[in-house]
Order: sequence, then structure tokens, then C-alpha cells
Amino acid sequence: MGNRVSDILSIRYPLLMGAITDKVRLAAAVSEAGGLGCIDGNVTPEQLRRDIREFRTISSRPFSANFPLKSTPARTLQERMEIIAEEHVPVVLSSAGSPAQWTNFLHDAGVLVAHVVPTVYHARKAVEAGVDVVVGEAYESGGFRGETDVTTMVLIPAIRRALPNVPLVAAGTISDRYGYVAARALGADGVQVGTRLIATHEAEFPEHYKKLILAADDTSTMSADGPLRPRISKPEFAERVLGENKRIQMGQGAALIDNILTVEEVFQEIFRGGAEHARRVAEELDLLNTVATTANPAG
Ligand SMILES: Cc1cc2nc3c(=O)[nH]c(=O)nc-3n(C[C@H](O)[C@H](O)[C@H](O)COP(=O)(O)O)c2cc1C
Repeated sequence: MGNRVSDILSIRYPLLMGAITDKVRLAAAVSEAGGLGCIDGNVTPEQLRRDIREFRTISSRPFSANFPLKSTPARTLQERMEIIAEEHVPVVLSSAGSPAQWTNFLHDAGVLVAHVVPTVYHARKAVEAGVDVVVGEAYESGGFRGETDVTTMVLIPAIRRALPNVPLVAAGTISDRYGYVAARALGADGVQVGTRLIATHEAEFPEHYKKLILAADDTSTMSADGPLRPRISKPEFAERVLGENKRIQMGQGAALIDNILTVEEVFQEIFRGGAEHARRVAEELDLLNTVATTANPAG
């Protein structure tokens, strides 16, 4: 059976890396594991070209470049998008803003567009603009969620109801097999992962990032102020763990992460573990139905 997200993006597993770092190594490891690695598009033109080429020295697989649209001046975006087109980057992962202005330009250059949205309204607008993949990013995630507080349990099924055929990715708190199976059960075709990928051997992050993610529990994050409202570590939590108030961006799903894995191991947990978990849930549901029928044959 085909998968709408992995088919359109030409990847093996429907897992997109979120836009979490300007280092290329992690992105290449994610693409090599069968997902869609992501490089940071919001860097100087020289670095962008260098990063695209560096990625290609490590992996010949598809990858994306991220552009938070609203926070980047139009001229800067134009220059970067031209580089994306010239270098034939397979996918742009756009976020924080309207994709309407860029989608046609990118499609003309053969570049696919996945766009991050926080509500059903924004998902509809993205589809009207012609994007190829919609990424629903909910309140719990480590990303920019704007002024809305819609949770995954509502956002993903609501987008799926509104747009039954769109290739749909759920972003936020997917850290393991349980999050993956839950996202798929809610109607997503795939997932976008940020915080879990920071806690990997391949991720080149300052040590305090990994330390805070490993130490986090369900109460360790909060919404930052400002229009983009990323989710960040609470000051008192950082103070307790690090002895100083360093704040990092991370999702609530950090509560579920207690080890550093390789990227390959993250994929195994999510996709092998996910298949096992989904089977167990399906078997239990079947059993419940069988018991119900036996107990009440007429019903
Ligand atoms: C440290 C960090 C930096 C991020 N920076 C960006 C960014 O520049 N642009 C963007 O679209 N999303 C950004 N995100 C959000 C990710 O792309 C992704 O959607 C999110 O991390 C998924 O939620 P999770 O962290 O709970 O897995 C960032 C997330 C983190 C944790």
C-alpha cells in the first residue's frame, strides 16, 4: 500500500526532520536512514550553497531546506529561493507565514513544497496555494505555533476531515513508537520530528541542549512570548539542571526522551516499534469485539 507522504517525497519512511539546526550532518543522517533531512535555508547565500553541496557529498537522497517566511525579508527570501531552484533542492519546508507567494515559483523549478500550519484555516490556505504536503504543528510541539493553542488530538483529525486527500504530516511530540502510531491513528500520513532528533549521536548541538532534553519531564516546557511563540525550557527547570538559566527550544515530547540514540535507532523505534505497537492495539480491539459478540450474540 502506498503512503501519500513518502510517495510524493520519494522517501522510504514518512518521517520529516524538523528545521532544528544549521548543521548538515544530522540532515544527511536522516535522509540516509530513509526520511527527509532538513537543512536551514535562512543562512547567507554562500553558506546555503555550501550546505547543499556538503549534504550531497554525504547523501544523494532527497532533503528539504526550511524557510520561516514571515520573519525573513522579501529580498533575502528571493535570493535564497533562487539558489534553491538553481541547485535543484528537492523540497522546501516553509513555515511561519503564507506559502502563496513562493509555491508557483518553486513548482516551476521542480521543487516540492511542504508547509507548516497551526490551524485548519491555515491548512486550507496552504492547499489553495498549491502546496504538496501540509504539516500540522500543534501546541505541544517544539516549533513556532503562532497565537493558537490547538492540540494534536484536534488539529490532525480536523485537518484530515477538512482536507481528506491532502498528504498530511503531524509535527510535535513524536518521540517514539507510541507518538507515531497515535499520529497515524489520528489521520496523519507521516510525522515531523524535532526534539527526538536533537537527542541523537549525530546531532551537533551544545551539550546543554541534550542535557535539558534528557532531564525534562512533562512540566519542563512553556510557551515563549512573542508572535511566533516557540515552546521553550522553563527557566527554573534549566536553573535546577544546569545551575544557570539557559533557555532552549524543545517540545513537550522531551518528557519521553531519556537516552541518546543514533538516527538509525530512532527510525527503528518509530517504524519497527510502531508496527509492533499498532498490531498489539489492533489485536486488543479485535479481541474486545469478539468478546462483545460472544457475550451478546444477538447484538
Ligand atoms: C531547537 C528547535 C529549533 C527549531 N527551529 C525551527 C525553525 O527555524 N523553523 C521551523 O519551521 N521550525 C523550527 N522548529 C520546529 C521543528 O521544525 C519541528 O516542527 C518541531 O520541533 C516538532 O516538534 P517536536 O520538537 O516536539 O518533535 C524548531 C524546533 C526546535 C526544537
